[in-house]
Amino acid sequence: MNIRIENLTKSYGDQKAVDSISFEVKTGEVLGFLGPNGAGKSTTMKMITHYLNIDAGNITIDGRSVRNTDMKKHIGYLPEHNPLYEDMPVIDYLRFVAELQGVDAVKLDDRVKDMVRLCGLNDEKHKKINELSKGYRQRVGLAQAMIHDPEILILDEPTTGLDPNQIVEIRELIRTLGNSKTVILSTHILPEVEATCDRILIINKGKIVADGTAETLRKTASGSQVLRVKIQAPSQDEVKESVSQLAGVALVEKVEGSENRLEIQSHVDQNVNEAIFRLCVDKNWVLTEMVPFETKLEDIFRDLTMN
Ligand SMILES: Nc1ncnc2c1ncn2[C@@H]1O[C@H](COP(=O)(O)OP(=O)(O)OP(=O)(O)O)[C@@H](O)[C@H]1O
Ligand SMILES: [Mg+2]
Repeated sequence: MNIRIENLTKSYGDQKAVDSISFEVKTGEVLGFLGPNGAGKSTTMKMITHYLNIDAGNITIDGRSVRNTDMKKHIGYLPEHNPLYEDMPVIDYLRFVAELQGVDAVKLDDRVKDMVRLCGLNDEKHKKINELSKGYRQRVGLAQAMIHDPEILILDEPTTGLDPNQIVEIRELIRTLGNSKTVILSTHILPEVEATCDRILIINKGKIVADGTAETLRKTASGSQVLRVKIQAPSQDEVKESVSQLAGVALVEKVEGSENRLEIQSHVDQNVNEAIFRLCVDKNWVLTEMVPFETKLEDIFRDLTMN
């Protein structure tokens, strides 16, 4: 199912928590929602799941407004502050949520079992929710979001509190689910976005400041690319001078601590790799290394959100 968000706005008093944002997410897409604390991520997610009324704008799923009460069955939601029934044992809680979500009575036990297995809850399933550790509570939250096998998953910081083993499993699960479903997840773990998401949306002070793949964000952010090249030649000064003269090369720097390694900055639309290769062939130099050096997503994030 496709989600379409148009000019979505929400204010708290004078503050616009979400300020006229528009974007779409399509079936088979995992969208990573990034932004500093207070940027408006959770507020947006609450409006998509219709837990919060919108002030202005539209949210539609396959063309129908999320205001229609029957839309909720298509959505699985893991809220930021995961409200759970504290006194219920995990297994009873999941059965209860499954019934509430209208899971077929014949399939209900199997569905609960599947969720217990997928979210690594087997050893804790008879404990009451208020006896669980933070990570296990998060796992129960994930299980309840997915129990009715919804087409859309809205996950507000899904891996917060999970141990490293479970983080890897949940990321893989989200990736797999993302092949056939529509997923929006928020996170502060930047490598997680690259590992899990097809697309990244960065929000700052209620406005979208970037929308694209990690690769396109890198390119638009810097306008240039950096290559690290190692060339064996009789004179490194000659190497540096010749490379500087290649078309599209903006800057050549010698990397400190290594005699014959160069850092070459070029414009994004120029393919300097081939030119370097041909230069080495012409001059009879040995090219032993040529690797792209990527701008860190952290740096892009800071550039876009530090104002
Ligand atoms: N119920 C509320 N009443 C008043 N202000 C609110 C309310 N909920 C959120 N806000 C404000 O709206 C802004 C956006 O909050 P939101 O929770 O959406 O941020 P977020 O991007 O999810 O941040 P975090 O990364 O910390 O979870 C914040 O400035 C917050 O204080
Ligand atoms: Mg939040």
